[in-house]
Amino acid sequence: MSDTKPTTFIIFGASGDLTRRKLIPALFNSYCKGRLPEQFNIIGFARRPWDDVQLRQILQDGMQELAPNTYHADKWEPFASKISYVKGDLQTPEDYQTLRHHLAELETGPGNRLYYMATSPSFFVPIVENLGAADMVQQQDGWRRLVVEKPFGHDLASAEALNSALQAVFMEDQIYRIDHYLGKETAQNILYFRFANTIFEPVWNRNYVDNVQITVTESVDVGRRAGYYDQAGVVRDMFQNHLMQLLSLMAMEPPASFEANAVRNEKAKLFHAVRPLQLDQTVRGQYEGYLQAEGVAEGSQTPTYAAMTLFIDNWRWQGVPFYLRSGKALKGKNTEIIVEFKLPPHLMFDDIQDEDFSANILSMCIQPDEGIHLKLEAKIPDSHKTQPVDMEFHYRSSFKGNSLPDAYERLLLDAVRGDASLFTRADSIEAAWALMDPVITCWEEDTNAPPMVTYPRDSWGPTEADDLLARTGRVWRHACYHPDES
Ligand code: BG6
Repeated sequence: MSDTKPTTFIIFGASGDLTRRKLIPALFNSYCKGRLPEQFNIIGFARRPWDDVQLRQILQDGMQELAPNTYHADKWEPFASKISYVKGDLQTPEDYQTLRHHLAELETGPGNRLYYMATSPSFFVPIVENLGAADMVQQQDGWRRLVVEKPFGHDLASAEALNSALQAVFMEDQIYRIDHYLGKETAQNILYFRFANTIFEPVWNRNYVDNVQITVTESVDVGRRAGYYDQAGVVRDMFQNHLMQLLSLMAMEPPASFEANAVRNEKAKLFHAVRPLQLDQTVRGQYEGYLQAEGVAEGSQTPTYAAMTLFIDNWRWQGVPFYLRSGKALKGKNTEIIVEFKLPPHLMFDDIQDEDFSANILSMCIQPDEGIHLKLEAKIPDSHKTQPVDMEFHYRSSFKGNSLPDAYERLLLDAVRGDASLFTRADSIEAAWALMDPVITCWEEDTNAPPMVTYPRDSWGPTEADDLLARTGRVWRHACYHPDES
């Protein structure tokens, strides 16, 4: 780490699941790899009547249960000795004075602070206002950064209000809005694939690409999260953030550098070029049994699945459909991006009919079988026909011994380094909301909106999503993991 000042991680909402499941494993792994600042402290701030020992025990149990492969008993003790607990109410200004005193005891000189809001979004504004009022945002003794978890707003208006509230206390370059999809190695690899190679970029446009498909399927259902999910639905939960971020990585123009604002400027430009969505280009669905799940409102119209077609009005992508789909309680967990290329303009092989020939398909598998596939037509030996064959790259075989770090590990370290390129800037968040908000509102209020359809659990979603592509003679593609084939 170039900045060698001691660094304190302050986790608001430390008694919650995120701290146990993601933040502590990410910090512990970074510690084991020697990537944390030499001197660091972690303070958990929450309401429960715990002390340091209890918090450490809970986090240790969590590590052993949830991340047993990366738990090293010998390293845990020295790591855990840096963890302390402050009991406090997020909305009570006096409790921030308690936190200040605790920090003063730990910080023996100038130091950096990373404030992490691992809380329900209703606490984001009170936390920030209280930090401001307690004079804990000034940067004269080291940097002060704020990490904001999703959901970032509920619609465009609330996202704008949240941005204003954060920016009233912190400067934009102190604010790190997390989208954990951007921390996934394979999502980052999209930019390396496009811009660290020369052979793909020349065909990455409307002249060669027929359509692009972004699929994020999940086998899990709403589980115990209905309280949140039934208010959110799949568009707020997955599209506004994760799918739109994947779209931007695939479609943005090359930035001049990997510097945060250079990357984020291109993303913002891309979002502004997306054409407002047409209602008849959307599908919404609910899995069978959703209405019976605990915590789901009676007769809820919350979609657990959506598919939609987007168009990008710029020179590169004019006329190329981008198909996005995501849902819960589906047959498998799979995040995959397909680029389907156009067919050759002229077929000179007499024995091959148009219908025998398939387009080149590039597939970027984000998870679970991380890698890249390219489907090509090859001549079948001793015949005049062709057959599609696969050129494959798999992380697990090409990078044996390099495990894929969890997204939070990378993102937390980037926040400490001050590299915001994988974090979302205020304007992109708002631009993504400006696209998704009208769809959600129309689905809820417009009588011409496509009806909610029900799809069976353990399927690939409603058939209406297939019809969406079939209208123009296209089909959903997949090249990676597919339980039907395994
Ligand atoms: C979260 C959503 O942001 O992403 C969840 O709130 C979803 O509903 C999760 O399950 C998916 O993330 P991943 O990394 O498992 O694909």
